[in-house]
Amino acid sequence: MAGNLTFTMIKPDAVRGGHIGAILAKINEAGFRIVAMKYTKLSEEKAGEFYAVHRERPFYGELVSFMSSGPIVAAALEKNNAVDDFRKLIGATDPSKAEPGTIRALFAKSIGENAVHGSDSDENAAIEIAFHFAGTEMFR
Ligand code: RTP
Ligand code: MG
Repeated sequence: MAGNLTFTMIKPDAVRGGHIGAILAKINEAGFRIVAMKYTKLSEEKAGEFYAVHRERPFYGELVSFMSSGPIVAAALEKNNAVDDFRKLIGATDPSKAEPGTIRALFAKSIGENAVHGSDSDENAAIEIAFHFAGTEMFR
């Protein structure tokens, strides 16, 4: 059975572009409920840890420096089928391939600076939520 929680970050490019409000509106309009949220900044170490699965990829260094380059908004989101539905809402990793109307089609500039993160599985959603939030910071 599909789980009902996913994890997102509004990435530094979208924060710098002034898109926090518009992205949160899209998230709410799509039927997600915000269960936890914080405006914060990842250290290089924390960004490296978060994306450790991509350690061997050629873009890892760039990804870590980008993700620690400015503030982000981190949030846990609740909805039926949360992980898959959120991936549909954000669109493809490369914004030039993202469906029209998706968050990345609307707000992302490039495959590296692509406005938002979305968990890719229920298991990773749980790990990523626990990485950013204590149980006392979750409101379900
Ligand atoms: P995310 O984890 O951030 O939601 O993105 P995703 O699942 O759509 O893509 P993933 O393959 O997990 O890649 C993680 C992030 O790494 C950066 N990236 N850069 N320069 C490149 O070729 C490249 N490929 C990936 C992006 O910021 C991507 O979101
Ligand atoms: Mg990913």
